[in-house]
Amino acid sequence: MSHIPVLINEVLNALSPTDAQTYLDGTFGAGGYTKSILKAANCNVIALDRDPNVLPHVEKMRADFPERFKFVQTEFSNMEDAVSGQKIDGVVLDIGVSSMQLDQGERGFSFMREGPLDMRMSGAGPSAADVVNHLEHSALIEIFKVYGEERRARRCADFIVRARDIAPIITTNALAGILSSALGSGGKKHPATRVFQALRIYINDELGELYRALLAAERILAPDGRLVVVTFHSLEDRIVKSFFRTRAGEIVGGSRHLPPQEVNTTPPSFHLRKRSGVAAGKTEQSENPRSRSARLRSGLRTHARSWPLDDRQGEGIFLKNVPSLEMLERMCA
Ligand SMILES: C[S@@+](CC[C@H](N)C(=O)[O-])C[C@H]1O[C@@H](n2cnc3c(N)ncnc32)[C@H](O)[C@@H]1O
Repeated sequence: MSHIPVLINEVLNALSPTDAQTYLDGTFGAGGYTKSILKAANCNVIALDRDPNVLPHVEKMRADFPERFKFVQTEFSNMEDAVSGQKIDGVVLDIGVSSMQLDQGERGFSFMREGPLDMRMSGAGPSAADVVNHLEHSALIEIFKVYGEERRARRCADFIVRARDIAPIITTNALAGILSSALGSGGKKHPATRVFQALRIYINDELGELYRALLAAERILAPDGRLVVVTFHSLEDRIVKSFFRTRAGEIVGGSRHLPPQEVNTTPPSFHLRKRSGVAAGKTEQSENPRSRSARLRSGLRTHARSWPLDDRQGEGIFLKNVPSLEMLERMCA
């Protein structure tokens, strides 16, 4: 199935493409957002994606918009390097996996399709199979609990560890089967849903990427530039909401990690557009089920300087007792 862009009218409305301006689409995918932006005004788009499989869509876009479109294959947390010092008038991020990634069994993202247990968007680094076969029981529990919000994380980890003692778990079907045995199949969702989500988030450092991208967007946006972010689950939305509210000066102290006496006096770097965010309308939700969990938040960059980095704001995103991806890679070498 081809990827249907989610909340595209709302994205255009928030970004408001204007002639001669330059926008950064950090999640090119099948190019749905980029194409709509390029069609909405005589503007330029710099697009990024970490997945080399989007290159055929990139070629098509290059042919259609040879002068106004540029692509860089990289993580969106690297957007500052990708724009090489240029100030940008709008940044858009459409977080998560694309339909193309989910639909290709060989990418290993879906418990509905047989394939290797991979899930790497960039194709590099440790895979989901490395996680389930090499990480300690306690680390698996933390990943499933925090990134999958799986209430029965321990039971899932118990079953996985027991299964891998017999043979390595190397396919999506094998893992989905183990999770079905652990959790039963009574609920509305497939029992593997949350653990697959957790593995994907961990393997691709999705929350860390999002957090660093918001900080980078703050630095590269020109005054009055727009930051527009579409997320698909509460973990991501919480990060975006907290970033915008902090930067708009709405959270007293600037950070809930700061003691009250350290009241922040940094001028707001964003004005919020709509405090509660925007969800898909009924028609879009019925036509594109993927849009049901989507939420768009956006902010207008002020003239104030970017805020100094405060590592404490990243707390809660990063797991405490789980090896980094670099450590996992060394463990599996
Ligand atoms: C939901 S799709 C975007 C679809 C796109 N808006 C469209 O209309 O076709 C998300 C895309 O972002 C990419 N992606 C996810 N995380 C990324 C990251 N950290 N850096 C760069 N690309 C990323 C994925 O590879 C995927 O192609």
